[in-house]
Amino acid sequence: MEWDAAYAIGQSAVDGDHQRLFQLFNQFSAAIAAGETRESANRFLRELADYSAYHFRREEGLMHAVGYPDYAKHKKMHDTFADFVRRQSDSGARDLEEVQFLQSYVEMWLCGHILVMDKWFGEWLDGRGEKAGAAAPTA
Ligand SMILES: [Fe+2]
Ligand SMILES: [Fe+2]
Repeated sequence: MEWDAAYAIGQSAVDGDHQRLFQLFNQFSAAIAAGETRESANRFLRELADYSAYHFRREEGLMHAVGYPDYAKHKKMHDTFADFVRRQSDSGARDLEEVQFLQSYVEMWLCGHILVMDKWFGEWLDGRGEKAGAAAPTA
């Protein structure tokens, strides 16, 4: 996953988190390419669970603080993804096919979520003239 300006929502803390998520994903992909499928999947799932929880808290906190009208819907999507990651973490044995499914699913989810849902939030903020620094996350 290559980061470019199309992914930026214009909130530096959120964009920084998203870049870190890309970085984790790319480390995972490199490990798969190097043949470390099983260990890398377990490590990635742990890192992804931790970091996405941290990121979702930040993003939701910001949404909540500014009264974003799609907050509940957006949070539900975060929760559904977090559940998926947790369920994957709990299932121990994985073959290459399962790891590749996981890789595709996470890539698709992250790209789609950022490009559509997170972008909408960025656009909504821009429309209101809001900027991140102004509102401290409260969640
Ligand atoms: Fe989000
Ligand atoms: Fe996000």
